[in-house]
Amino acid sequence: MTSIRQLFLARQAQTTNFPLGLEVDKAEGMYLYTPEGKKILDLIAGISVCNIGHRHPSVLRAISAQMDKYMHLMVYGEYIQSPQVKLAQALHKVLHPTLDNVYFVNSGSEAIEGALKLAKRYTGKTDIVACERSYHGSSHGALSIIGDESFRQNYRPLLPGITHIPFNDISALDAIGPNTAAIVVECVQSESGYIVADEDFLLEARSRCTKYGALLILDEVQTGFGRTGQLFAFHGIKDFVPDIIVLAKGMGGGLPIGAFIAPRKIMAALKENPILGHITTFGGNPVSCAASMAVLEELLKTNMVCKVPEKEIRFRKGLQHPEILEVQGKGLMLSFRLSSFEKVQKTMHLCLEKGLVTDWFLFEQNALRVAPPLIITEDEIDWSCKIIREALDAIRK
Ligand SMILES: Cc1ncc(COP(=O)(O)O)c(C=O)c1O
Repeated sequence: MTSIRQLFLARQAQTTNFPLGLEVDKAEGMYLYTPEGKKILDLIAGISVCNIGHRHPSVLRAISAQMDKYMHLMVYGEYIQSPQVKLAQALHKVLHPTLDNVYFVNSGSEAIEGALKLAKRYTGKTDIVACERSYHGSSHGALSIIGDESFRQNYRPLLPGITHIPFNDISALDAIGPNTAAIVVECVQSESGYIVADEDFLLEARSRCTKYGALLILDEVQTGFGRTGQLFAFHGIKDFVPDIIVLAKGMGGGLPIGAFIAPRKIMAALKENPILGHITTFGGNPVSCAASMAVLEELLKTNMVCKVPEKEIRFRKGLQHPEILEVQGKGLMLSFRLSSFEKVQKTMHLCLEKGLVTDWFLFEQNALRVAPPLIITEDEIDWSCKIIREALDAIRK
């Protein structure tokens, strides 16, 4: 009989020749369970998605209550759907007062597309500045701005007018000028091994944008919803407010949703000439919005977010090993650089055998990714560190 693994490989489009290929039967809190009943501690959270853990009871209740009322009703923007309205208001309350208008979409890539289009429409300009080694998604617009040529090169022609600058290089911000519609930045580069942005770099980008009338688009797709120890990473930077913030991943508590958020005056550019400047059928799906509201409430009413910095310290202390050459990142998005991709792969597989899932990065192949749900306990951190250290001992031999 054909196994489900064979069918996965034969019938499902593959993204690499080396998928993790872990079969999961159930997920709950910090753990994944295989069909054989093996319990696996999740140090990846579906790539910074399950911030409050898998199948959080509040999320399940919110989903179920909304499903009893309605699911999809209409393309985004026509009907008044209370889960969308309530979530937009709740996001406005926790963000800077200028960020008062929310456009709901389905994913991080779609939110980036919306933000780029909005910047062009609002400024009437076309040039975009982005950072080397940044990641913003895989659709054509997002792909045009990601900062890795090997991922871009076989898809040309891509969007014109894009300039890539070295991340954290203040002098390179000269690229922002009178023709710039926007710069797109991350507070922690998500796929280059969690490189943290220098505050001076972000503040200088902000002031150049203000000077030239360009918009600053902040991609908080991975950093948002508590992962760095602030509800949003930019909250940790004094006097820094983006023009557009882009959210997704952790926003939905496991359901697909994204958003780009901007001042109402800027967002208004999408509703005229032509109307419907961004069209999305499922954007702001009411069930996803209800789930997202539950996530936000959970993050606000518990101490999950403020515990992140001490959990970061525990990981940093627990993961000291001669094989680890460098540690990067902030909060519960940490990267441990080894000396080769092969060592990363071996470590990942040894950890998985012991019941611990870790991952790698797109643009920093020598680093091991650790980004668990924020609910991870001290004991679970200590156990994870022990398993990773043992795997690193094994690859030394
Ligand atoms: C920083 C960042 N931006 C955008 C995206 C794209 O999000 P999605 O995969 O939901 O399209 C990702 C996805 O990994 C991301 O990490």
